[in-house]
Amino acid sequence: MYHEIEFNKIDLNLDPPIEEPERQYYYIAKCQKWVKEFEQKQGRLPKACVTTFGCQMNARDSEKLLGVLKAIGYEETDSEKADFVLYNTCTVRENANQKVYGKLGFLQTLKRKNPNMKIAICGCMMQEADEIETIKRSYRFVDLVFGTHNIYKLAELLAKQIETQKQTIDVWEDTTEIVESLPNQRKFSFKSGVNIMFGCNNFCSYCIVPYVRGRERSRNPEDILNEIKKLAADGVIEIMLLGQNVNSYGKTLKQPITFAQLLQRVEAIDGIERIRFMTPHPKDLSDELIAVIAQSKKICKQIHLPIQSGSTEILKKMNRHYTKEQYLKLVEKIRTAIPDISITTDIIVGFPGETEADFLETLDVVKQVQYESAFTFLYSKRSGTPAADMPDQVPSEVAKERFHRLLTEIQTTSSKLTEKAVGKTEFVLVEEQNTQNPEMVTGRLSNNLIVHFPGSIELIGTIVPVKLIKAKGFYYLGEKEN
Ligand code: SAH
Ligand code: SF4
Ligand code: F3S
Repeated sequence: MYHEIEFNKIDLNLDPPIEEPERQYYYIAKCQKWVKEFEQKQGRLPKACVTTFGCQMNARDSEKLLGVLKAIGYEETDSEKADFVLYNTCTVRENANQKVYGKLGFLQTLKRKNPNMKIAICGCMMQEADEIETIKRSYRFVDLVFGTHNIYKLAELLAKQIETQKQTIDVWEDTTEIVESLPNQRKFSFKSGVNIMFGCNNFCSYCIVPYVRGRERSRNPEDILNEIKKLAADGVIEIMLLGQNVNSYGKTLKQPITFAQLLQRVEAIDGIERIRFMTPHPKDLSDELIAVIAQSKKICKQIHLPIQSGSTEILKKMNRHYTKEQYLKLVEKIRTAIPDISITTDIIVGFPGETEADFLETLDVVKQVQYESAFTFLYSKRSGTPAADMPDQVPSEVAKERFHRLLTEIQTTSSKLTEKAVGKTEFVLVEEQNTQNPEMVTGRLSNNLIVHFPGSIELIGTIVPVKLIKAKGFYYLGEKEN
C-alpha cells in the first residue's frame, strides 16, 4: 500500500519500474528530490492549487491528483498565486470550456510575476483534439496537459516536464487499465466519494461523456471494499459510490456481481453510517436494487433518477431507452417499496426538435413525480455528439423561456415538500461551520437537503438529531435536540 512506501529507499539510479503503481512511486521520489532543491533555494515549500470544474467524479480525480502532489512535497493552497496550478476541466456544456480559457488568461498574468509557476490542465476537456490544438497554438505558457485516462501518471509527467522544461502533452484515447494504491487527499475528513466504475457505454445522443471518459470499466469489488474499510478506519462515516451508470456495475468483471450485491457488501462494513450513490440510469434499475435500498439501514433514502425529458419522442431521440410511462412506473414501484424516499433528477430543456407539447410532457412528469430538487440544464450543443447534427435546434429564447417555467414548477414542488417536514426531528451529518454565522453549523439530512442550526464546530463530522424549525425552499433552519 501507498502509506507503507519508503520513498527515500527508492534507488533513482536504476531505471524506472515498468509495473504500476511502482513506476509512479519511483517518479514521486524523483519529484521529491526536486522539491528539496526548491526548498533549499527558496526557503519554503512549493505550493499547489487544484481546481475542479466538473462533476463528483472529476472532484474525486482532483483528490487523487492533490494526493500525488502532496506526496511529492507540495503544500496545498486554495489560492491560484501558487507554484503549481492544475485545472481539472469539464466539457459537458460548451460554456464550461469558455470559462477555462477565460481563467487561463488570468493565470498567465500570475505566471509573469512568478517565473517558477507551472500551469497544468487535465480532465474531460483535454480529451478533445480541438482543445489540445488550441492549447498548443494559443496557450504556450501551459506547461503540462494530460487527459482522463492517465491521471495516475501525474508524477511521471511532472518529472518529464521538469527535466525538459517544455510543454508536455500526454492524452490517451481510451484505456482498459485501472491503477490502484496511489495516494489521495480527501477534501472532507468524514465523507468521501469512491469510484466503483469509470467510463460510460450509453451514448445518450447529447452527451460528450462517453467520448471523453472512454468505455465502461468496473473496479474489482475487493479493491472497492478495501478502500472503504480503510476510509472507515480513518474516520469516514459517509461514502458516495460513483459511476456514470452504477446499475451496470460489475457486468464485465471476470466474476460478475450486481450493483445491489456490492451495496450489501458495503453495508456490512463497520463504521460506515451513510451510503449514497450516483448515478443510476432509469433504463436498468433492478427490482433487486429497490429491495436492497428498502431493507438497508445505511443507504440514504434518496435516489437521483435523471429523466432528462418527459416526452417519449424526445427520450427516443436522446437514446435514453425508456418512455415517459416506463419512467413513471419505475417511480411508482420505488415509492411503493420505499414510501419515505426522496427523488431528485436532471432535466435538459431545449433538446433539438423539442416542441411546446414535448416540453409540457416534461412539466407533467415534474408535477406527477414531485421531485425534492432537480438540476436543470439548457441544452448545449456538443460537437461530436449525434444531437449536434440533429435538425430543428431550438432557438435560445424559446429554450430560456421554457427553462424559467420549469424552474418555477420545481421550486413550487420543493418548497411544498420541505414545508411538510417542518416540526420533525431528523438526523443531520454536520459538515462545516456556517459561512454566514460562526455560531451556526451546516449539515445534510439523509435526503441530502441542507440544514443550518446553532452549534459548535466540534459537531463537524458527527450525526446529530435536529428539529426542523423553518423551511426555506431548498434548505432548513433547525435546532439541535439533546
Ligand atoms: N451519467 C449521468 C449524467 C452525467 S452528465 C446520467 O446519465 O444521468 C450530468 C448531466 O448533465 C446530465 O444528466 C444531463 O442532464 C446534463 N447534460 C449532459 N450533456 C448535456 C448537454 N449537451 N446539454 C445540456 N445538459 C447536458
Ligand atoms: Fe452521458 Fe448518458 Fe452516459 Fe450519463 S448515461 S454519462 S448522460 S451518455
Ligand atoms: Fe464529469 Fe464534466 Fe467530465 S460532468 S465526467 S467532468 S465532462
